[in-house]
Amino acid sequence: MQHSSTFRLGVLGSGKGSNLAAIADAIAAGGVPAQIAVVLSDVQEAGILRQASDRSIPSAYLPPGSFRTKLDEPAESLYIQRLLEAKVDLVVLAGFMRILKGEFLNAFRNRVVNIHPSLLPSFPGLEAWKQALDYGVKVTGCTVHFVDQGIDSGAIIGQETVPVLDQDTPQALHERIQLAERSLYPAAIASLARGDVSVLGRKTARRVP
Ligand code: GAR
Repeated sequence: MQHSSTFRLGVLGSGKGSNLAAIADAIAAGGVPAQIAVVLSDVQEAGILRQASDRSIPSAYLPPGSFRTKLDEPAESLYIQRLLEAKVDLVVLAGFMRILKGEFLNAFRNRVVNIHPSLLPSFPGLEAWKQALDYGVKVTGCTVHFVDQGIDSGAIIGQETVPVLDQDTPQALHERIQLAERSLYPAAIASLARGDVSVLGRKTARRVP
């Protein structure tokens, strides 16, 4: 069950939806003063859409158009339109594997956040857990950040560290990172929903209670 709240989230994802599930569960438990207004996916069979419908959250598959790594123009307009119709206060990227640029970011200025599976600015881009493993770092983690025009380069809102173990496989490390994501993302969204995050240039700060 969702709690009714005035701070409305629009969640975009392409994958299995573990972050959506964690956010929805945290809302239901009263830990995040927000509601999920809509879930959109560029992948018809994505688990995130199943997670949404299991929880009676409005959701839709919106075809991404003709490009592989971004939305084409008509698709981008459609995503913007659906999010505006749902009156979202914050766009939450939860494993959305397409780059969002100009038009979209202008429509939701400073209101798009993402979770990335590394300690940024290390290992931006795809399969960040594999990049960390291949590089040989001993600590990695996850980062919640605002989305800007670059790749995983916006102001950092929160980070959580995760150890890299000697025997790790890419899958084992990714699973450990995803465990950390499940608490980091809801906590960051709760702070944003409460208006506790201020942004100055590329630095953010939490209001001290
Ligand atoms: C998450 O691990 C997230 O950090 C990653 O996709 C996964 C989605 O999982 N995002 C990126 O790599 C973005 N560059 P989920 O569908 O289970 O939430």
